[in-house]
Amino acid sequence: MLRDNFGREFHYLRLSITDVCNFRCNYCLPDGYEGKPDQAFLSLDEIRRVCAAFGAAGTRKIRITGGEPSVRKDLPEIIRTVKATPGIEKVAITTNGYRLPEVVDEWADAGLDALNLSIDSLDPGVFKAITGHSRLHELLDGLDRAIALGIASIKVNAVMLRGLNDKQLAPFLDWIKNKPITLRFIELMQTGDNSEFFAKHHVAGEQLRQWLLANGWIQTIRAVDAGPAQEFYHENYQGRIGLIMPYSKDFCSTCNRLRMDSTGKLHLCLFSDTGIDVRPLLQSDEQRDELIEFLQNQLLDKKVSHFLQDGQSGGTRHLAMIGG
Ligand code: 5AD
Ligand code: SF4
Repeated sequence: MLRDNFGREFHYLRLSITDVCNFRCNYCLPDGYEGKPDQAFLSLDEIRRVCAAFGAAGTRKIRITGGEPSVRKDLPEIIRTVKATPGIEKVAITTNGYRLPEVVDEWADAGLDALNLSIDSLDPGVFKAITGHSRLHELLDGLDRAIALGIASIKVNAVMLRGLNDKQLAPFLDWIKNKPITLRFIELMQTGDNSEFFAKHHVAGEQLRQWLLANGWIQTIRAVDAGPAQEFYHENYQGRIGLIMPYSKDFCSTCNRLRMDSTGKLHLCLFSDTGIDVRPLLQSDEQRDELIEFLQNQLLDKKVSHFLQDGQSGGTRHLAMIGG
Protein backbone atom coordinates (compact mmCIF):
# COMPACT_ATOMS: atom_id res chain seq x y z
CA MET A 1 0.00 0.00 0.00
CA LEU A 2 1.30 3.47 -0.90
CA ARG A 3 1.41 5.48 2.31
CA ASP A 4 2.92 8.82 3.34
CA ASN A 5 4.45 10.10 6.57
CA PHE A 6 1.10 11.48 7.75
CA GLY A 7 -0.68 8.08 7.60
CA ARG A 8 -2.55 8.89 4.39
CA GLU A 9 -3.06 5.95 1.98
CA PHE A 10 -3.26 6.38 -1.76
CA HIS A 11 -6.03 4.36 -3.36
CA TYR A 12 -6.68 6.73 -6.21
CA LEU A 13 -4.55 7.83 -9.18
CA ARG A 14 -5.38 10.70 -11.52
CA LEU A 15 -3.66 9.99 -14.80
CA SER A 16 -3.40 12.75 -17.38
CA ILE A 17 -3.00 11.50 -20.95
CA THR A 18 -2.61 14.87 -22.72
CA ASP A 19 -2.46 18.52 -21.72
CA VAL A 20 -4.14 19.62 -24.96
CA CYS A 21 -7.64 21.08 -24.61
CA ASN A 22 -10.14 22.34 -27.16
CA PHE A 23 -12.08 24.58 -24.74
CA ARG A 24 -10.99 27.91 -23.30
CA CYS A 25 -12.47 28.07 -19.83
CA ASN A 26 -11.80 31.53 -18.50
CA TYR A 27 -10.35 30.23 -15.19
CA CYS A 28 -8.05 27.72 -16.90
CA LEU A 29 -7.04 28.40 -20.53
CA PRO A 30 -8.66 31.77 -21.39
CA ASP A 31 -6.55 32.03 -24.55
CA GLY A 32 -6.91 28.36 -25.48
CA TYR A 33 -4.19 25.72 -25.55
CA GLU A 34 -0.79 27.27 -26.17
CA GLY A 35 1.58 24.34 -25.67
CA LYS A 36 3.71 22.54 -28.20
CA PRO A 37 1.44 20.13 -30.08
CA ASP A 38 4.33 17.76 -30.85
CA GLN A 39 4.96 16.96 -27.19
CA ALA A 40 5.38 13.22 -26.57
CA PHE A 41 2.58 12.04 -24.32
CA LEU A 42 2.72 8.67 -22.57
CA SER A 43 2.24 5.80 -25.03
CA LEU A 44 -0.32 3.07 -24.49
CA ASP A 45 2.48 0.73 -23.28
CA GLU A 46 3.76 3.34 -20.83
CA ILE A 47 0.21 3.91 -19.57
CA ARG A 48 -0.21 0.16 -19.11
CA ARG A 49 2.97 0.07 -17.00
CA VAL A 50 1.92 3.04 -14.85
CA CYS A 51 -1.39 1.29 -14.15
CA ALA A 52 0.25 -2.08 -13.46
CA ALA A 53 2.57 -0.56 -10.84
CA PHE A 54 -0.15 1.47 -9.11
CA GLY A 55 -2.59 -1.46 -9.24
CA ALA A 56 0.01 -3.76 -7.65
CA ALA A 57 0.71 -1.11 -4.98
CA GLY A 58 -2.90 -0.92 -3.79
CA THR A 59 -4.47 1.71 -6.07
CA ARG A 60 -8.14 0.82 -6.66
CA LYS A 61 -9.33 3.62 -8.89
CA ILE A 62 -7.78 5.45 -11.84
CA ARG A 63 -9.23 8.61 -13.29
CA ILE A 64 -8.20 9.53 -16.82
CA THR A 65 -7.84 13.31 -17.18
CA GLY A 66 -6.31 15.91 -19.52
CA GLY A 67 -6.25 18.66 -20.71
CA GLU A 68 -9.19 17.09 -22.48
CA PRO A 69 -8.61 13.32 -22.68
CA SER A 70 -10.94 12.82 -25.65
CA VAL A 71 -8.56 14.69 -27.97
CA ARG A 72 -6.52 11.47 -27.98
CA LYS A 73 -7.67 9.09 -30.71
CA ASP A 74 -6.62 6.01 -28.73
CA LEU A 75 -8.79 6.92 -25.69
CA PRO A 76 -11.03 3.80 -25.98
CA GLU A 77 -7.87 1.61 -25.96
CA ILE A 78 -6.60 3.53 -22.94
CA ILE A 79 -9.87 2.95 -21.07
CA ARG A 80 -9.71 -0.76 -21.95
CA THR A 81 -6.10 -0.99 -20.79
CA VAL A 82 -6.76 0.72 -17.45
CA LYS A 83 -9.82 -1.44 -16.88
CA ALA A 84 -7.86 -4.67 -17.58
CA THR A 85 -5.22 -3.85 -14.92
CA PRO A 86 -5.11 -6.28 -11.98
CA GLY A 87 -6.16 -4.46 -8.80
CA ILE A 88 -7.95 -1.58 -10.54
CA GLU A 89 -11.65 -1.79 -9.75
CA LYS A 90 -12.83 1.52 -11.16
CA VAL A 91 -11.91 3.47 -14.27
CA ALA A 92 -13.20 7.01 -14.41
CA ILE A 93 -12.81 9.94 -16.77
CA THR A 94 -13.08 13.70 -16.46
CA THR A 95 -14.15 15.36 -19.71
CA ASN A 96 -15.43 18.67 -21.04
CA GLY A 97 -18.02 16.67 -23.01
CA TYR A 98 -16.88 17.63 -26.48
CA ARG A 99 -18.73 15.29 -28.95
CA LEU A 100 -19.96 13.26 -25.98
CA PRO A 101 -23.07 11.77 -27.68
CA GLU A 102 -20.85 10.34 -30.43
CA VAL A 103 -18.17 8.83 -28.20
CA VAL A 104 -19.79 7.78 -24.94
CA ASP A 105 -21.06 4.40 -26.23
CA GLU A 106 -17.53 3.42 -27.15
CA TRP A 107 -16.24 4.48 -23.71
CA ALA A 108 -18.92 2.44 -21.95
CA ASP A 109 -18.09 -0.53 -24.16
CA ALA A 110 -14.41 -0.20 -23.20
CA GLY A 111 -15.37 -0.57 -19.53
CA LEU A 112 -15.79 2.97 -18.21
CA ASP A 113 -17.28 2.94 -14.68
CA ALA A 114 -17.51 6.64 -13.91
CA LEU A 115 -17.92 9.84 -15.88
CA ASN A 116 -17.30 13.39 -14.65
CA LEU A 117 -18.55 16.07 -16.98
CA SER A 118 -17.85 19.78 -16.55
CA ILE A 119 -20.97 21.96 -16.91
CA ASP A 120 -20.46 25.35 -15.30
CA SER A 121 -23.90 26.66 -16.24
CA LEU A 122 -27.20 25.37 -17.63
CA ASP A 123 -27.73 28.69 -19.40
CA PRO A 124 -26.26 28.42 -22.93
CA GLY A 125 -25.12 32.06 -22.96
CA VAL A 126 -23.37 31.83 -19.60
CA PHE A 127 -21.90 28.46 -20.55
CA LYS A 128 -20.44 30.03 -23.68
CA ALA A 129 -19.09 33.01 -21.74
CA ILE A 130 -17.24 30.68 -19.36
CA THR A 131 -15.96 27.93 -21.70
CA GLY A 132 -15.72 29.65 -25.08
CA HIS A 133 -17.94 26.95 -26.60
CA SER A 134 -21.60 26.86 -27.49
CA ARG A 135 -21.98 23.13 -27.09
CA LEU A 136 -24.15 22.98 -24.00
CA HIS A 137 -26.99 21.04 -25.71
CA GLU A 138 -24.45 18.47 -26.89
CA LEU A 139 -23.17 17.94 -23.34
CA LEU A 140 -26.69 17.53 -21.99
CA ASP A 141 -27.55 14.97 -24.70
CA GLY A 142 -24.33 13.09 -24.00
CA LEU A 143 -25.09 13.07 -20.30
CA ASP A 144 -28.54 11.56 -20.90
CA ARG A 145 -26.97 8.97 -23.15
CA ALA A 146 -24.45 8.08 -20.39
CA ILE A 147 -27.32 7.62 -17.93
CA ALA A 148 -29.18 5.44 -20.46
CA LEU A 149 -26.06 3.32 -20.95
CA GLY A 150 -26.01 2.61 -17.23
CA ILE A 151 -22.57 4.09 -16.45
CA ALA A 152 -22.47 3.50 -12.71
CA SER A 153 -21.33 6.87 -11.45
CA ILE A 154 -22.08 10.13 -13.23
CA LYS A 155 -21.02 13.48 -11.84
CA VAL A 156 -21.25 16.99 -13.13
CA ASN A 157 -18.65 19.57 -12.07
CA ALA A 158 -19.52 23.25 -11.85
CA VAL A 159 -16.88 25.74 -10.75
CA MET A 160 -18.56 28.46 -8.66
CA LEU A 161 -17.83 31.87 -10.15
CA ARG A 162 -18.92 35.14 -8.59
CA GLY A 163 -20.85 37.29 -11.04
CA LEU A 164 -21.02 34.50 -13.64
CA ASN A 165 -22.96 31.48 -12.34
CA ASP A 166 -23.34 32.09 -8.60
CA LYS A 167 -27.03 33.06 -8.85
CA GLN A 168 -28.02 29.86 -10.67
CA LEU A 169 -28.61 27.42 -7.84
CA ALA A 170 -32.37 27.09 -8.52
CA PRO A 171 -32.08 25.82 -12.11
CA PHE A 172 -29.31 23.44 -11.07
CA LEU A 173 -31.46 22.04 -8.23
CA ASP A 174 -34.52 21.63 -10.49
CA TRP A 175 -32.34 19.84 -12.97
CA ILE A 176 -31.15 17.13 -10.54
CA LYS A 177 -34.58 16.54 -9.03
CA ASN A 178 -35.09 13.49 -11.28
CA LYS A 179 -31.55 12.82 -12.48
CA PRO A 180 -29.41 10.06 -10.92
CA ILE A 181 -26.23 12.13 -10.90
CA THR A 182 -24.09 14.05 -8.41
CA LEU A 183 -23.72 17.75 -9.10
CA ARG A 184 -20.51 19.06 -7.56
CA PHE A 185 -19.84 22.68 -6.91
CA ILE A 186 -16.11 23.39 -6.94
CA GLU A 187 -14.50 26.38 -5.30
CA LEU A 188 -12.31 28.22 -7.78
CA MET A 189 -8.62 27.57 -7.09
CA GLN A 190 -5.90 30.09 -7.63
CA THR A 191 -3.24 28.96 -10.09
CA GLY A 192 -0.13 30.69 -11.43
CA ASP A 193 -1.99 32.16 -14.41
CA ASN A 194 -5.37 33.20 -12.98
CA SER A 195 -4.66 35.46 -9.96
CA GLU A 196 -6.61 38.42 -11.29
CA PHE A 197 -9.58 36.26 -12.32
CA PHE A 198 -9.45 34.52 -8.94
CA ALA A 199 -9.56 37.80 -7.01
CA LYS A 200 -12.66 38.81 -8.97
CA HIS A 201 -14.60 35.55 -9.10
CA HIS A 202 -13.70 33.32 -6.16
CA VAL A 203 -16.69 32.38 -3.96
CA ALA A 204 -16.30 30.31 -0.79
CA GLY A 205 -18.40 27.14 -0.63
CA GLU A 206 -19.19 27.43 3.08
CA GLN A 207 -22.28 29.57 2.54
CA LEU A 208 -23.75 26.99 0.16
CA ARG A 209 -22.90 24.24 2.66
CA GLN A 210 -24.84 26.05 5.38
CA TRP A 211 -27.76 26.60 3.02
CA LEU A 212 -27.88 22.89 2.08
CA LEU A 213 -27.83 21.79 5.72
CA ALA A 214 -30.60 24.25 6.57
CA ASN A 215 -32.74 23.01 3.67
CA GLY A 216 -32.97 19.30 4.29
CA TRP A 217 -29.75 18.09 2.65
CA ILE A 218 -27.90 15.44 4.66
CA GLN A 219 -24.17 14.80 4.47
CA THR A 220 -23.02 11.26 3.52
CA ILE A 221 -20.05 9.27 4.85
CA ARG A 222 -16.99 9.15 2.61
CA ALA A 223 -15.64 5.97 0.87
CA VAL A 224 -11.86 5.27 0.95
CA ASP A 225 -11.46 5.83 -2.77
CA ALA A 226 -13.80 8.82 -2.84
CA GLY A 227 -12.69 12.10 -4.33
CA PRO A 228 -12.34 15.27 -2.29
CA ALA A 229 -16.04 16.20 -2.28
CA GLN A 230 -18.35 16.38 0.70
CA GLU A 231 -21.60 14.80 -0.53
CA PHE A 232 -25.21 15.53 0.40
CA TYR A 233 -28.54 13.87 -0.40
CA HIS A 234 -32.16 14.97 -0.01
CA GLU A 235 -35.31 12.87 0.17
CA ASN A 236 -37.04 14.90 -2.56
CA TYR A 237 -34.15 14.73 -5.00
CA GLN A 238 -32.84 11.81 -7.00
CA GLY A 239 -29.59 13.67 -7.63
CA ARG A 240 -26.97 14.45 -5.01
CA ILE A 241 -24.91 17.54 -4.35
CA GLY A 242 -21.16 17.56 -3.83
CA LEU A 243 -19.02 20.38 -2.51
CA ILE A 244 -15.33 20.68 -3.20
CA MET A 245 -13.79 23.25 -0.90
CA PRO A 246 -10.01 23.16 -1.33
CA TYR A 247 -9.60 26.14 1.00
CA SER A 248 -11.37 24.47 3.90
CA LYS A 249 -9.30 23.56 6.94
CA ASP A 250 -9.29 19.76 6.64
CA PHE A 251 -9.21 19.40 2.86
CA CYS A 252 -5.73 17.85 2.70
CA SER A 253 -6.12 15.52 5.68
CA THR A 254 -8.29 13.15 3.62
CA CYS A 255 -6.00 13.25 0.58
CA ASN A 256 -5.97 9.77 -0.99
CA ARG A 257 -4.84 10.61 -4.51
CA LEU A 258 -1.69 11.00 -6.56
CA ARG A 259 -1.24 12.42 -10.01
CA MET A 260 0.73 11.40 -13.07
CA ASP A 261 0.97 14.02 -15.80
CA SER A 262 0.83 13.29 -19.52
CA THR A 263 4.61 13.12 -19.92
CA GLY A 264 5.17 10.75 -17.01
CA LYS A 265 5.86 13.12 -14.14
CA LEU A 266 4.51 12.19 -10.73
CA HIS A 267 2.86 15.05 -8.82
CA LEU A 268 2.51 14.48 -5.09
CA CYS A 269 0.03 17.35 -4.94
CA LEU A 270 -2.00 19.35 -7.45
CA PHE A 271 0.06 22.32 -6.31
CA SER A 272 3.57 20.87 -6.01
CA ASP A 273 6.47 22.92 -7.35
CA THR A 274 7.66 20.30 -9.82
CA GLY A 275 6.78 16.85 -11.11
CA ILE A 276 9.08 13.86 -10.55
CA ASP A 277 10.06 12.15 -13.78
CA VAL A 278 9.23 8.42 -13.70
CA ARG A 279 9.31 7.88 -17.46
CA PRO A 280 12.72 6.13 -17.37
CA LEU A 281 11.00 3.48 -15.19
CA LEU A 282 8.22 2.93 -17.75
CA GLN A 283 10.35 1.44 -20.50
CA SER A 284 9.88 -2.28 -19.79
CA ASP A 285 7.46 -4.51 -17.86
CA GLU A 286 10.39 -5.81 -15.77
CA GLN A 287 10.78 -2.40 -14.11
CA ARG A 288 7.47 -2.65 -12.25
CA ASP A 289 8.82 -3.42 -8.79
CA GLU A 290 11.53 -0.80 -9.10
CA LEU A 291 8.85 1.73 -9.99
CA ILE A 292 6.72 0.77 -6.97
CA GLU A 293 9.71 1.20 -4.66
CA PHE A 294 10.49 4.56 -6.25
CA LEU A 295 6.88 5.73 -5.76
CA GLN A 296 6.90 4.64 -2.13
CA ASN A 297 10.14 6.55 -1.49
CA GLN A 298 8.89 9.70 -3.20
CA LEU A 299 5.76 9.66 -1.09
CA LEU A 300 7.82 10.23 2.03
CA ASP A 301 8.34 13.77 0.71
CA LYS A 302 4.61 14.50 0.36
CA LYS A 303 3.73 17.61 2.32
CA VAL A 304 0.91 17.84 4.84
CA SER A 305 -1.03 20.51 2.89
CA HIS A 306 -1.07 22.45 -0.36
CA PHE A 307 -0.64 25.83 1.43
CA LEU A 308 -3.06 27.33 -1.10
CA GLN A 309 -4.62 29.41 1.65
CA ASP A 310 -1.29 31.31 1.79
CA GLY A 311 -1.65 32.15 -1.91
CA GLN A 312 0.90 29.48 -2.94
CA SER A 313 0.04 27.58 -6.10
CA GLY A 314 3.40 25.86 -6.65
CA GLY A 315 4.41 25.34 -10.27
CA THR A 316 0.83 24.90 -11.46
CA ARG A 317 0.05 27.64 -14.01
CA HIS A 318 -3.37 26.19 -14.82
CA LEU A 319 -5.12 22.88 -14.16
CA ALA A 320 -4.96 21.70 -17.79
CA MET A 321 -1.27 20.99 -17.03
CA ILE A 322 -2.17 18.10 -14.72
CA GLY A 323 -5.90 17.56 -15.04
CA GLY A 324 -7.25 19.11 -11.85
N1 5AD B 1 -10.35 25.95 -9.96
C1 5AD B 1 -11.33 25.03 -9.76
N2 5AD B 1 -11.67 24.10 -10.67
C2 5AD B 1 -11.01 24.10 -11.82
N3 5AD B 1 -11.11 23.30 -12.90
C3 5AD B 1 -10.20 23.69 -13.82
N4 5AD B 1 -9.49 24.75 -13.35
C4 5AD B 1 -9.98 25.02 -12.11
C5 5AD B 1 -9.65 25.98 -11.11
N5 5AD B 1 -8.69 26.89 -11.27
C6 5AD B 1 -12.09 22.23 -12.99
C7 5AD B 1 -12.68 22.01 -14.33
C8 5AD B 1 -13.05 20.55 -14.32
C9 5AD B 1 -12.14 19.95 -13.28
C10 5AD B 1 -11.16 18.99 -13.83
O1 5AD B 1 -11.44 21.02 -12.67
O2 5AD B 1 -13.83 22.79 -14.55
O3 5AD B 1 -14.38 20.35 -13.93
FE1 SF4 C 1 -10.09 22.62 -20.96
FE2 SF4 C 1 -10.87 21.64 -18.59
FE3 SF4 C 1 -9.22 23.75 -18.72
FE4 SF4 C 1 -11.79 24.02 -19.47
S1 SF4 C 1 -11.02 23.52 -17.40
S2 SF4 C 1 -9.98 24.82 -20.58
S3 SF4 C 1 -12.22 22.07 -20.37
S4 SF4 C 1 -8.73 21.70 -19.39
